[in-house]
Amino acid sequence: MTQHDPRTVFLRDYTPPAYLVEEVRLTFRLAPHATRVLSEIQFRPNPDAADRDFFLHGEQLKLISAHVDGAPVTPELVEGGLRLDAPDAAFTFEAEVEIDPENNTALEGLYRSNGMYCTQCEAEGFRKITFYPDRPDVMAPFHVRIESDLPVLLSNGNEVARGEGFAEWYDPWPKPSYLFALVAGDLVAHADSFTTQSGREVALNVWVREADIDKCAFAMEALKKSMKWDEEVYGREYDLDLFNIVAVDDFNMGAMENKGLNIFNSSAVLASPETATDADFERIEAIIAHEYFHNWTGNRVTCRDWFQLCLKEGLTVFRDQQFTGDMRSHPVKRIDDAMLLRSAQFREDNGPLAHPVRPESFVEINNFYTVTVYEKGAEIVGMLKRLVGDEGYRKALDLYFERHDGQAVTIEDWLKAFEDATGRDLSQFARWYHQAGTPRVHVAEDYADGTYTLTLRQETPPTPGQDDKAPVVIPVAVGLLNPNGDEVVATRVLELSEAEQSFAFEGLSTRPVASILRGFSAPVILRHEQSHETRAFLLAHDTDPFNKWEAGRDLARTGLLAMILDGAGPDAGYVDALGQAVSDEALDPAFRARLLALPGEDELAQAIFETGTAPDPTAIHAAREALRRAIAERLGDTLSRLYETHQVTGPYSPEAKDAGRRALTNAALSLLTLTQGGDRARAQYRAADNMTQQIAALGALLVIGEGEAELKAFEEQWHHERLVMNKWFGLQVAAARPEETAATAEALSRHPAFDWKNPNRFRAVFGALAGNAAGFHDPSGAGYRLLADWLLKLDPLNPQTTARMTQAFSTWKRYDEDRKRLIRAELERIAGAQGLSRDTSEMVGRMLA
Ligand code: PHE
Ligand code: ZN
Repeated sequence: MTQHDPRTVFLRDYTPPAYLVEEVRLTFRLAPHATRVLSEIQFRPNPDAADRDFFLHGEQLKLISAHVDGAPVTPELVEGGLRLDAPDAAFTFEAEVEIDPENNTALEGLYRSNGMYCTQCEAEGFRKITFYPDRPDVMAPFHVRIESDLPVLLSNGNEVARGEGFAEWYDPWPKPSYLFALVAGDLVAHADSFTTQSGREVALNVWVREADIDKCAFAMEALKKSMKWDEEVYGREYDLDLFNIVAVDDFNMGAMENKGLNIFNSSAVLASPETATDADFERIEAIIAHEYFHNWTGNRVTCRDWFQLCLKEGLTVFRDQQFTGDMRSHPVKRIDDAMLLRSAQFREDNGPLAHPVRPESFVEINNFYTVTVYEKGAEIVGMLKRLVGDEGYRKALDLYFERHDGQAVTIEDWLKAFEDATGRDLSQFARWYHQAGTPRVHVAEDYADGTYTLTLRQETPPTPGQDDKAPVVIPVAVGLLNPNGDEVVATRVLELSEAEQSFAFEGLSTRPVASILRGFSAPVILRHEQSHETRAFLLAHDTDPFNKWEAGRDLARTGLLAMILDGAGPDAGYVDALGQAVSDEALDPAFRARLLALPGEDELAQAIFETGTAPDPTAIHAAREALRRAIAERLGDTLSRLYETHQVTGPYSPEAKDAGRRALTNAALSLLTLTQGGDRARAQYRAADNMTQQIAALGALLVIGEGEAELKAFEEQWHHERLVMNKWFGLQVAAARPEETAATAEALSRHPAFDWKNPNRFRAVFGALAGNAAGFHDPSGAGYRLLADWLLKLDPLNPQTTARMTQAFSTWKRYDEDRKRLIRAELERIAGAQGLSRDTSEMVGRMLA
């Protein structure tokens, strides 16, 4: 367990830094294997510190020389850094170190990607660049000089000087080291500008390799929209003369919010109609916004320590969700967010990796960039907003920015801003940050003499290290419908704060139909026994779009569980109700596409596990496919009509309206192909002038075991486009039959274009393997073995990506004895490997505990 690992860091052990930094000067003499980094750091004693222990973090650095106030010193090199007897007054520390970017395969610190130099410092990567107090509560302005013959030399802030072979940058905003960035390469810019609300002109650039210059326009538009939106909705203006974005091929995550110099995984920025799907465009828009929004929520106001990660991430995800809703559709965005929360965060919260949104300890902080911190963290912000109202929320945010600008703060500071701005006591609400696990809310209903009584009971199951759970404050949005479909009580937010509470609605003339947890108002699992008829009624009549979708989802889930557990046939009543709903032309096509998506196999596995049965992924897959086929058969006419009448004509646009139509026609296509063969998909493939249509057609063909020719043609057409080839690799594994999935992944890992050191390519194949539930859990154990082999191979090079991908095994305790034995053996094999990284050993340790 984490608690016993000697390297464990605890929140309760936080102490303020002994010294603060006034200013930093860095000089980089770039060379692939021997980059010199010269630092000049002005320290002063921190009046709030308890001691004068002068310690600087540093890892994998070759110390060449060090000086204090100009005099040479010999620091004591210790595990993870250096120590020095430092003056009890202000002083200047200088050091020269040598680092090896070319051999930095972990992609943390200064590294090389396709010949360019770039950095990734969050969370603790700056210590691989030079000796420094590498903690977010030490903030300073940075001067940076880069010496290199490469044409483009970038760092944070504004460029202040440039000449033959060098550039100098200055960032006036005090920042923690994790927001430092440097880029040097042979790059070209897609340039534009933005005028802020106070009239400041900001130069904007998206920097890419020449071959990618035609894929930058969309990201640039998204950036400008984000800048405008943050001014309009949060009153937040940009604060430098320049904003740079750089696309990098080798990157462990999506993107990084370095001050004035965001660095992006190229998959999160590059897009053209021919190479990117509608989903890619939407994701790019959201990530651009997310990183931009960090300028205020993260950079201007940052985290005191890494336990407070959700302070910036939960809030920034919430902000990017609001933004996407405003740009596209709020109901559809809410459905997508709920699907992600359920498939990934509930999975985490209900397994061995469960942890509070604000964890209390960690071994490797990189392991805590999780869906719990990000997505549940965002849900908490959404609940706060619902509880205090839109005005209260805006007041609280204004106060938070005003009070904490330039500071490194905690969740307590964040909640205090809400308390002071709204007068609300949030002490019980704060449990959402401390308590792990997904609350279950049980619903009981009663109706007598015109009064409808709703009784809600909450309970949160134990999670590792937290056996006893206290009640949390759950905002439950409820509306009541008359049996004729009219809404008799409009949405009202009930506050469930006790273990059990009743709420009465008086003066009703008939027993109403309740629509509960509208808009998915809290990240909980609702346990509400409802009849098939009631659900079908809500699917037809609910005025809340989320719950309308949810009613269909409940019907689908119940029907699937009956098929899997009781051998029932496909539920014709559900299929007919679905057919009615998707035919309703008053509904947004994007929303109807969501109605056609069945619960995922992993979600079903968890639902079965919760009934006390070990799920069988093979049976789950078979049932889900059978239901899809039944839908396609019974709704064949409806689906082909939808397919024909919702085709988008005219030139491709990634806008929500067209994307929604394509989502609907492609959902119809994938179903129709199951029962009517591949002709329609082949025709679409041939006619496609954009990636959305092309890949949807290819996917539909692969699922029915066809598409060999198209697969070949696709490779020929796209072999030079790395991002498109990731799709080609991933799709084959995702669409493979269960018993062939591991073999498919294995064969692809031998493909000459399988560059396993590139995280995107590695994830394309092995992420898809883990995501193909029936294939990964095939009883042979081949999927488990293959993934473990490759994780062991990747770990010495890239611990961060390896550790993240071990999560494929996290649900292992759900399964039958045979599968459990097989998975445990692989986890133990990984745990026992010589020299296993701290990242991966923490993850497998928690899973085996
Ligand atoms: N802070 C980044 C984001 O959420 C994510 C990230 C974390 C990137 C760690 C790289 C390393 O926007
Ligand atoms: Zn973020």
